[in-house]
Amino acid sequence: MREIITLQVGQCGNQIGKEFWTKMSAEHGISKEGVVEHPEVQANDRKDVFFYQADDDRYVPRSILVDLEGTVLDTIRTSEMGRFYNSENFFMPETSREGGGAGNLWSSGYDQAGESHTGLFENIDREAEGCDSLEGFILCHSLAGGTGSGYGSYLLEKLRERYPDKLIQTYSVFPAPDGSDVVVQTYNSILTMQRLIEHADATVVLDNVALNQIAEEKLKLTQPTVVDLNEFISTVMVSSTATMRFPGYMYNDLGGIIASLVPTPRCHFLMTSYTPLASQNAQQAIRKTSVHDVMRRLIEPHNLMVSCSRSEGVYASILNIIQPGSANSSDIDQTAIHKSLQQLRAKQRVKFVPWCPASIQVAVAKRSPFIEQSSRVSGLMLANHTSITTLFEKILKDFWTMLKNKAFLFKYAESNVIKANEKEFDDCGNAVASLISEYRAMEDPLYGSLTPIQ
Ligand code: GTP
Ligand code: MG
Repeated sequence: MREIITLQVGQCGNQIGKEFWTKMSAEHGISKEGVVEHPEVQANDRKDVFFYQADDDRYVPRSILVDLEGTVLDTIRTSEMGRFYNSENFFMPETSREGGGAGNLWSSGYDQAGESHTGLFENIDREAEGCDSLEGFILCHSLAGGTGSGYGSYLLEKLRERYPDKLIQTYSVFPAPDGSDVVVQTYNSILTMQRLIEHADATVVLDNVALNQIAEEKLKLTQPTVVDLNEFISTVMVSSTATMRFPGYMYNDLGGIIASLVPTPRCHFLMTSYTPLASQNAQQAIRKTSVHDVMRRLIEPHNLMVSCSRSEGVYASILNIIQPGSANSSDIDQTAIHKSLQQLRAKQRVKFVPWCPASIQVAVAKRSPFIEQSSRVSGLMLANHTSITTLFEKILKDFWTMLKNKAFLFKYAESNVIKANEKEFDDCGNAVASLISEYRAMEDPLYGSLTPIQ
């Protein structure tokens, strides 16, 4: 068994984590109390990747909830999900009992993590020891605030140090590129990105602007809420883990999925699209869906959950996870997939890197027997595309401008992490700049061929 431990950090991390686990429990027929609701149904699933069984046979998520303020954790604790999580795994450091989180400061989140990580790692180590063969970690967080970014950054460093051979995947919510979320969001984002570049094996990039746009334009919601956005994000999270939980013969562990998407270690920032999307608040038009409809829609720019222009750039890789509407996976016809790939190739709809023979990879995941979709087929695209840099360039440009003007820097100056390395900001900015160059270099037909093999 290749188990995964999930870490939800900060407000956003915990809110998207909660939705993820709500969907996960529904897919595995597990009640909010952790009880298997229909033991008579043969689910053919692997619950143990994400859950373990307690002494009373209840299924408990391998998940740890971290925050520097109590509001979100208390909301989850008192919600219908309260008994679902292991109560020991709600982690709020003693130091922040009366405090108000990290106050949107990466450095405060990072410093508080330095002071409190021993207690957190007692939980992480306990979860890891309970695994047969731990494969890795999933971190859910945002980059704009202080806890998900700063605490999350420290956690990435320590996880890598303590579990060097385990995979780390993150679901990272990037701030609105128009700068409207948090005034120091570009600082927090770039300081976190350096850790994502160095220590994560794959980062699924999500941003609220693109998600909002999808909610307004595709689902015709007039005022999308965070609940709608988290519905999309959790759908992506659940679908991207479907092949691990309802395994077929390929892509049935995290390593297999990451290996198919990440050509060089640092270029591991993935974009996603999903179709057909639904929301509790939207009137759904039921359309006819075929495998080709789904495959075609997945590469349409307006379905993308990242704000970037794909008119430039090329794909380094694509993995489409296609699921039938019901548990009978014979609904998905392999020849339809093959035909669709041929059609997309013939129309040259997808431009790949010029230096390597690449194509759309397709995984067919079984559908949970406990969920019926109204659509016959649904699909998730995970893609590594060089135009992800348009998002990073925007953040980096704002970052250098603010840094040059020393705007709000005094807020960071007193923290231990910045005192320890006064070039922290420059180092992180340069790390992101070099990631952008690395992605750009992949667009060159001569990529990699000008340096001899040692
Ligand atoms: P501090 O509160 O500063 O200690 O850090 P935090 O990690 O708790 O901050 P938070 O997660 O609230 O970060 C703010 C960013 O996350 C902003 O970009 C928000 O738009 C975004 N955000 C917060 N909650 C959610 C959520 O539930 N869903 C989504 N999609 N975005 C969220
Ligand atoms: Mg918070």
